[in-house]
Amino acid sequence: MKKLEEYVRSIPDFPEEGIVFRDVTSVLQDKDSLKMSIDQMQSLLDDVDIDVVVGPESRGFIFGVPIAYNLNKAFVPVRKKGKLPCETIEMEYALEYGTATIEMHKDAIKPGQRVAIIDDLIATGGTIEAITKLIESLGGIVVKIIFLMELEGLHGRDKLKGYDVEAVIKYE
Ligand code: PRP
Ligand code: HPA
Repeated sequence: MKKLEEYVRSIPDFPEEGIVFRDVTSVLQDKDSLKMSIDQMQSLLDDVDIDVVVGPESRGFIFGVPIAYNLNKAFVPVRKKGKLPCETIEMEYALEYGTATIEMHKDAIKPGQRVAIIDDLIATGGTIEAITKLIESLGGIVVKIIFLMELEGLHGRDKLKGYDVEAVIKYE
């Protein structure tokens, strides 16, 4: 059987010249790699006590929900600004060019809840750093951060010092 990393399609010069884009859709569109990706990410939570899974729009939803469902835990979506209907907290973060703002519902995390953050990919780490701040401002405890893919050359982990961070597939 093919290994999971062999299913990731790499697209040169997308979205800009010089970037090799690691495309998660090629993992999703094959039933074997879809299963392997969820199973391998979920296995990193085998001995971790959590109450809730948090995942960012949109690719974090793809992996966060099935893992939360399998573990019989709740799922909390983090959304781009302006999408959530109730009272929110927000955080601005840096993109490679410019900034973006993400939001969570204020009542989504209760003080003391143990949280795993799940996303498809870490690049600069800005998205997940902002999410850790949102969770902690609500009194949540980030006990694990899991990615399918890590672009090590962008040093996103440097923004997540002190957290337990794991990635299934690593690119230099
Ligand atoms: C991508 C990816 C991560 C984030 C990684 O999401 O799914 O969430 O960027 O980048 P960073 O480590 O530099 O913050 P994007 O914001 O493109 O949204 P999408 O999932 O809706 O495509
Ligand atoms: N693939 C997918 N998403 C990304 C990438 C990438 O290579 N870089 C930043 N976001």
